Amino acid sequence: MSELRVLTGITTSGTPHLGNYVGAIRPAVRDSRQAGVQSFYFLADYHALIKVGEPARIQRSTLEIAATWLAAGLDPEKVTFYRQSDIPEIPELTWFLTCLTGKGLLNRAHAYKAQVDKNLAAGSDPDAEVSAGLFMYPVLMAADILMFKAHKVPVGRDQIQHIEMARDMAASFNHLYGPQLVLPEAQIEDAVATLPGLDGRKMSKSYDNTIALFAPPAVLRKQIASLVTDSRAPGEPKSTEGSALFDIYQAFATPEETQAMRQAFAQGIAWGDAKQKLFERIDQEIAPMRASYDELMAHPARIEEILQAGARKARALATPFMAQLRDCVGLRKLTQSATPPAAASAARVALPSIKQYRDTDGRFAFKLVDGQGRVLLEGKGFDNPREAAQIVSKLQTGDASALDVHSDRLTPLDTSTKQLLLQALEVLRAHTLAKS
Ligand code: TRP
Repeated sequence: MSELRVLTGITTSGTPHLGNYVGAIRPAVRDSRQAGVQSFYFLADYHALIKVGEPARIQRSTLEIAATWLAAGLDPEKVTFYRQSDIPEIPELTWFLTCLTGKGLLNRAHAYKAQVDKNLAAGSDPDAEVSAGLFMYPVLMAADILMFKAHKVPVGRDQIQHIEMARDMAASFNHLYGPQLVLPEAQIEDAVATLPGLDGRKMSKSYDNTIALFAPPAVLRKQIASLVTDSRAPGEPKSTEGSALFDIYQAFATPEETQAMRQAFAQGIAWGDAKQKLFERIDQEIAPMRASYDELMAHPARIEEILQAGARKARALATPFMAQLRDCVGLRKLTQSATPPAAASAARVALPSIKQYRDTDGRFAFKLVDGQGRVLLEGKGFDNPREAAQIVSKLQTGDASALDVHSDRLTPLDTSTKQLLLQALEVLRAHTLAKS
């Protein structure tokens, strides 16, 4: 199990569109084929319940999304492909994490805050239409990730905060119970992380500006025809900057094709022709997948069987890991010895700390010492004690940005010390957030 583990989920609340394909499904499927990568893909149907109260839509969307991923080339033999609600260990881990997550941390979650801001703007109660499920969304997501010890989580930019929260929760858990959970990292496809929609804003169901992924070609052509452009006439040079059409084209084209399109823009290609080229380029990639999508949609039993096999594979990992975590937190048989497992107690060390002092030259200085007493960082040569104190208070909350800003006053670090220092700051950050 020394392979890189990559995990991602899609909420089963709609029909996949081109933005989902370009931003999540395609890069994830590509990565899943790499040697040395162990991938987990799942249908986040517990997450869907937060927004969708229509059973038929939940089921339909689960079917469509499963069919989409399989049609997009996911190999369920190579990867672990499952439905979140088939893994009862996930809600159990969610509760463990709930118990060590500061309410203040969740108050800062974008999705929740956006709803509160909307309510305030409308003069309503701040918590109007905020379910506890929406508030807890990041915790459920952290459980998804931490359950399978994922290193990398391919997500859109809007999800980065959730991954950081998952890291914080993992760090809190590890601090309290020993090193059990892997700290995940977001993986953003920078070239084409978000696709513009029909109106030029980010393609998103909530803007109603999406292009369906596996609609029949005639529908795809019609949707592309309705893409916003400016009013430049055929023959007039067109700008690729800010052009949704160009951006979508680029997401499907090779660099050479993109270059040719850039030139066509400069030479004044008619919008109608550019749209035709865009349609052809997308359809070229999508058509073979569309055929297997249609085939799968006609045979839901096949998909169900694949998901059941995936759940067995996933639970082969989740069930023993959850048993270990239950033991770790003290949910154990009464007959079992009460001493914590050696690994956990050894790892349960004191928090990193920072000591300020006056150096022999009379100037102000500080030292950051980790829980095992190792000096990881020294800052020296401050004439003004307040200056040193400001850096110290930043570091105390785990803010690593202080390291870059004040690098001239800090001892240079070798790679392994830097690694330890960043870990120590992560612990301080999680600790600060849990307190707030
Ligand atoms: N919140 C993700 C989204 O809306 C879906 C999701 C749920 C997810 N759990 C996850 C993504 C775990 C990555 C990892 O896109």
